[in-house]
Amino acid sequence: MDFLEQRIEEFRRVLKPTGTLYFHIDYREVHYCKILSDSIFGRDSFLNEVIWAYDYGGRTSKKWPPKHDNILVYAKDIERYYFDTDAVERIPYMAPGLVGPEKAARGKLPTDTWWHTIVPTNGRERTNYPTQKPMGILRRIVQTSSPPGGLVADFFAGSGTTGAACYELGRRFLMVDDNPSAADVMSQRFATFDKVEYVGYQPSGDRQGVQPSLLAGLM
Ligand SMILES: C[S@@+](CC[C@H](N)C(=O)[O-])C[C@H]1O[C@@H](n2cnc3c(N)ncnc32)[C@H](O)[C@@H]1O
Repeated sequence: MDFLEQRIEEFRRVLKPTGTLYFHIDYREVHYCKILSDSIFGRDSFLNEVIWAYDYGGRTSKKWPPKHDNILVYAKDIERYYFDTDAVERIPYMAPGLVGPEKAARGKLPTDTWWHTIVPTNGRERTNYPTQKPMGILRRIVQTSSPPGGLVADFFAGSGTTGAACYELGRRFLMVDDNPSAADVMSQRFATFDKVEYVGYQPSGDRQGVQPSLLAGLM
């Protein structure tokens, strides 16, 4: 918790007044993280606990198989945070026959429960980074909580899904990860992107003479 406390304080500090933090965390830890984040942001700044539900992988028969992740969402300033529901990709109604053809064709806004498959093991999106998250989840976050041209930071960037979503949606991005393999995967993923700058890393893959503990790609 000490590790997280220092970081959450810094995340809050660097957010713009219109910014939000999306804190993606395992279901076993989320309750402790909620209390910690409340103490840093203030309980009034808590917007949501998004449940990302999927249905993949093995199933225990000893308890309900855990098939969700939690994403805590906090606003830096509850009066000013950016949240654009018009930009969100709408989803099909579960019972379209009940809402009429016009509404059914338009689809509905997602709620705080997001059904979304994990990254398919053999799909085009796959980078082979072990903890890679799906583009669909990051697209939704970026579309809703950052304006076009806005700056999005991910300090645990992994394979850089946040950066890829930002590039696709016309946002600037700052990706950081302390794992050299993450930097390698990101530099491959961003290889065709315009204007990416690297700090503390050389995208050639040759790590000699550079500190591979930080990658910052800023578009
Ligand atoms: C769950 S993964 C992120 C996955 C990412 N969302 C994606 O789509 O690939 C968490 C990342 O945090 C990184 N990490 C862990 N501790 C860190 C630290 N102290 N500083 C920076 N990155 C760290 C790990 O290397 C890992 O890549």
